[in-house]
Amino acid sequence: MLRARATAARAKDPKKAMKRVLKLVFGERKLKFAFIVACILISSFSIVYSSNFLGLFIDECVFPLIGVEDPSWAPVIASLTQFAAIVSISVVFNYLLSRTMVGISQDTLYTIRVDMFRRLESLPVSYFDQNQHGTIMSRFSNDTDTLNQFISHALVQLMQSSITLVMVIVSMIMNSWIMTAVVALFALLTMKATSSIAKRSGRQFAAQQADLASVNGFIEEMMNGQRVIKVFCHEDQSRSDFAALNEKLRKSMTKGNTYANIMGPVTMNLGNLQYVALVIVGAVAVILSGGAASGYTIGLLAAFLQLSRSFSNNVNQISQQSNMVLLALAGAERIFELLDEESETDDGYVTLVNAKMDESGNLTETGEHTGLWAWKHPHHDGSPVSYVPLRGDIVMRDVDFGYVPDKMVLHDISLYAKPGQKIAFVGSTGAGKTTITNLLNRFYDIQDGKIRFDGININKIRKADLRHSLGMILQDTNLFTGTIKENIKFGKLEATDDEVIAAAKLANAHGFIMMMPDGYDTMITNNGESLSQGQRQLISIARAAIADPPVLVMDEATSSIDTHTEALVQSGMDRLMANRTVFVIAHRLSTVRNSNAIMVLDHGRIIERGDHDDLIAQRGVYYRLYTGAVELE
Ligand SMILES: Nc1ncnc2c1ncn2[C@@H]1O[C@H](COP(=O)(O)OP(=O)(O)OP(=O)(O)O)[C@@H](O)[C@H]1O
Ligand SMILES: [Mg+2]
Repeated sequence: MLRARATAARAKDPKKAMKRVLKLVFGERKLKFAFIVACILISSFSIVYSSNFLGLFIDECVFPLIGVEDPSWAPVIASLTQFAAIVSISVVFNYLLSRTMVGISQDTLYTIRVDMFRRLESLPVSYFDQNQHGTIMSRFSNDTDTLNQFISHALVQLMQSSITLVMVIVSMIMNSWIMTAVVALFALLTMKATSSIAKRSGRQFAAQQADLASVNGFIEEMMNGQRVIKVFCHEDQSRSDFAALNEKLRKSMTKGNTYANIMGPVTMNLGNLQYVALVIVGAVAVILSGGAASGYTIGLLAAFLQLSRSFSNNVNQISQQSNMVLLALAGAERIFELLDEESETDDGYVTLVNAKMDESGNLTETGEHTGLWAWKHPHHDGSPVSYVPLRGDIVMRDVDFGYVPDKMVLHDISLYAKPGQKIAFVGSTGAGKTTITNLLNRFYDIQDGKIRFDGININKIRKADLRHSLGMILQDTNLFTGTIKENIKFGKLEATDDEVIAAAKLANAHGFIMMMPDGYDTMITNNGESLSQGQRQLISIARAAIADPPVLVMDEATSSIDTHTEALVQSGMDRLMANRTVFVIAHRLSTVRNSNAIMVLDHGRIIERGDHDDLIAQRGVYYRLYTGAVELE
């Protein structure tokens, strides 16, 4: 994985990524783009102008006045004023340029973050199985950050340096082609030297990135596992593991930086050499050509030296930025990868609507909130839309499923649950209990078989409506940052405070919530860190209760809680289960006993079914579980 990260540091198709970034940045801001180009042109012109100004000033203002008695200062002042005006204009436009770019880059990043988040929310659950959360997070943190640097600084720098470079070269050729040839020669030399250094440092860079990733990964893992580390007194071991990784990073960073650090001095010294060579060639040309008449003047030499400085500066700028650009484009590619990820598809056309009975006893759709729900089922064959009351009748027939195509987890699962019935799943860990519930709400699609909800194939039901009609209490409780009230309201955003309290009372959560310092307004952070396991479960039960779904799926948490809280959770769940179709994955036999049907799962197959008494009479796996011959879990 680390290897993959290291190679991923380079963009696969930088050109394509660059085009897309430019489209994002300037695609809908053509006017601003024109303004930016204009600003850059003005500022580049002012750089070239300043260099040439020096030459003209020396030749036309300074030399003619040397030794003159009572010199006239007017031309000096006029040309200095012109110079000051042009430089000031350029300063103003430079300021406007950076202001505009800050706005554009932040707007672009805002849009990118919105798009990424939208995409993320639209992705199927399986995406999160296949991609590590840390990797997804780094799209939002590192990759967006490098892209920010690129858009707000490097992009403009690069445009500016390139335009200035072209102007400088033209101006150099116009001034003196001999001296331009000297500059070209040194440019070639510098390019050769830097590219050979860059090649070496590039190789080190990949190693450096990989080592950095492993150090960061290690720290993250250690932070998450602090409790386990302390429990097993693993501090010394983890310290020495860290030291080893850190040492590896130190070595690769030292190597990488050695190359990177000689780059500067090499180009600087070559630049100095070029300066000396130009002075010699220029001076010889001025002396041999006899001065002003031939065009080779002291002023020209001075101007040229200035131009050659700007030439080197801009070449350096471009080569420095290009590394940053490659990194940023690699980040951009990863962001685009997320943006191009396939969203969860939904072909469902059966929807859940408010319904009422008309005089003749037929169901019809209504805009009012009647508390009576119906599936609105349009038919492809042209027959009229039918309305099926939402009852909570579930049938699974010959269902096969695997998370990955060639590894089946469930085989031939068939079962039914009539409205109001309670079906329990028991079986050892990994038997496939949670998996069955993941299929009911279409977190995953089945490979074979059929699942029907109130007689309708669930593939035809719009996913949002299907999920509305199914309450889920997941195995791992997840609470969000916010107040307890907000967390309960998660099940029904428009719920009133009274409804929240009623749901909490139903779930048996009211008592402990009232003991909290701020009651229902107590803030919860970090997935309810400050609450006990049982309290978190009670809140998640209240959250399901407030949604009041006809079908409820409960994946009992395996972790044990104290007997008092367990009794609370139990009675909360019992109350919630009343009058609903319930699928319960039970780890406590007390939950299972009063179910209408119990499915004993083993390796993805239902191996026994029946109610408690039937199964005890069968004297099979359930009997052995119940009598304690086999541990449940
Ligand atoms: N997201 C997933 N991707 C791939 N395989 C998975 C995934 N989730 C579960 N599995 C596999 O599917 C099988 C059934 O897992 P499942 O979570 O349904 O078990 P379970 O009966 O709920 O166990 P437990 O009692 O421990 O909760 C296991 O072999 C597991 O490794
Ligand atoms: Mg499970």
